[in-house]
Amino acid sequence: MKLVLASQNEKKLKEMNDILSQLGIEVCLQSQVGVHVDVEETGDTFEANSLLKAQAVMKATGMPAIADDSGLCVDALGGAPGVYSARYGGPDLNDAGRYRLLLENMRGQSPRTAHFVSVITCCFPNGDVITARGECAGTIAYAPQGTGGFGYDPVFFLPQKKKTFAQLTPEEKNEVSHRGKALTLFREKLEDYLKK
Ligand code: IMP
Repeated sequence: MKLVLASQNEKKLKEMNDILSQLGIEVCLQSQVGVHVDVEETGDTFEANSLLKAQAVMKATGMPAIADDSGLCVDALGGAPGVYSARYGGPDLNDAGRYRLLLENMRGQSPRTAHFVSVITCCFPNGDVITARGECAGTIAYAPQGTGGFGYDPVFFLPQKKKTFAQLTPEEKNEVSHRGKALTLFREKLEDYLKK
């Protein structure tokens, strides 16, 4: 089965295919099926935005569509950047600019605890919807470390591994990450759905 991803993020695509290919599922980019849908994320929860994205791409392609809405929630910042993680600091910042801003906003703050959230939604043309949520707890590092991953990975520290997400291999990250957990749960739900 082929699922169209409601995102242009190739890093997300790879993390999804690493887990879902075991089920014989192939996730592809919208560009591979000739569409480009840019969905405005107007929801104020990960669930709402994930559904908005998957629904829009399913309608545009007529194919089952999968979306991940994810973000980093920092306790000392009242849960920010949260659903605004991709837009933190405005449109002119890149990933490094956003995590530098986060480090600046965390100066002198405690606790430094935070968690990542991922909500995966898959919308089918017959109206069926499958959703799965995953979370991963950690802390905000004092300085960026590592070169792997994307987004806030260099500043998200896992005390149990004594490494940031950016210092893990893709396999190690998928084992513990919010997206890895959400995708594993999603894979189980999809397996049950396909048996029906
Ligand atoms: P979305 O694409 O609208 O879901 O935005 C998610 C944003 O949250 C990304 O642009 C990243 O900034 C951040 N994010 C989500 N998942 C991760 C991750 O696994 N590592 C680092 N940053 C992430």
